[in-house]
Amino acid sequence: MKAAAARVLLTGAAGGIGQAMAARLRAAGAQVLGVGRRPAPEGQPWVQADLSTDDGRIATAAAAAGFGANVVVHAAGVPGFGRLATLPAEQLDAIVATNLVAPMLLTQALLPALLKQPRAQVGFVGSALGRIGLPGFSVYGASKAGLHGFAEALRRELADTTVRVQILGPRSTRTGFNDGAVEAYNRATGTAMDAPEAVAAALLALIESEAAERFVGFPERLAVRLNGVLGAGLDGSFTRHRRHLTPVTGGTTR
Ligand SMILES: NC(=O)c1ccc[n+]([C@@H]2O[C@H](COP(=O)([O-])OP(=O)(O)OC[C@H]3O[C@@H](n4cnc5c(N)ncnc54)[C@H](OP(=O)(O)O)[C@@H]3O)[C@@H](O)[C@H]2O)c1
Repeated sequence: MKAAAARVLLTGAAGGIGQAMAARLRAAGAQVLGVGRRPAPEGQPWVQADLSTDDGRIATAAAAAGFGANVVVHAAGVPGFGRLATLPAEQLDAIVATNLVAPMLLTQALLPALLKQPRAQVGFVGSALGRIGLPGFSVYGASKAGLHGFAEALRRELADTTVRVQILGPRSTRTGFNDGAVEAYNRATGTAMDAPEAVAAALLALIESEAAERFVGFPERLAVRLNGVLGAGLDGSFTRHRRHLTPVTGGTTR
């Protein structure tokens, strides 16, 4: 739908990408209700909620219904970089809970009200890493791959309703999400990073086009397609990525 007709519930609204999205959507004429764990930025409609909790999701769904949301953008997320062996179990749990389980449960809570709207859209912020498995991003990539699979199935499940399901796949983006270790990995592997404003522009285009999905950046857009066709045939392309990670301990490498 056109931005001027959109009443957007935006999770992760205080984040690097979320702030750029909120600004871009408002500039295009949309109304935006932000969600975040921190207190409301001054003068902005806001729900303060932890989306990894039942209470947080219930409060968010109630506020969205009161606001008359007809577009939902799930942009809340947490990072996770490093070899699997180095990720603490609590961090692994938090990545899956925040990036995958929370958007699924929040969507479930929002759907009854969305289905009463003449038209509605649910957009997920996935990742190129949800379609291309990269060394160092096994758990984060799995959480986003889950989100891409969820969005695809839900899109087909709701195809005969007034609710459209969409997913955006940004590549690496310059926000506080990526620490120095990720930036060094990106430099070492020649991975480009976008400004959050570029991701916000892609989100607006996705919402207005009502397309099923949109990936940001080249060659990532092509790589996503190639990976889908060739799969394991591309395994030899990630030596630089693997070598940049901390060495494996207690095993043999080649
Ligand atoms: N940056 C990248 O390279 C990149 C690339 C591809 C995709 N993405 C995806 O884009 C989205 C936004 O990323 P970003 O770069 O903007 O990251 P960010 O600056 O760290 O923002 C993430 C936001 O998520 C919110 N959040 C995290 N856990 C939450 C919870 N339990 N309940 C409610 N809110 C929670 C945070 O809210 P608080 O303000 O409460 O902390 C924060 O505002 C994420 O889904 C990320 O996976 C990012």
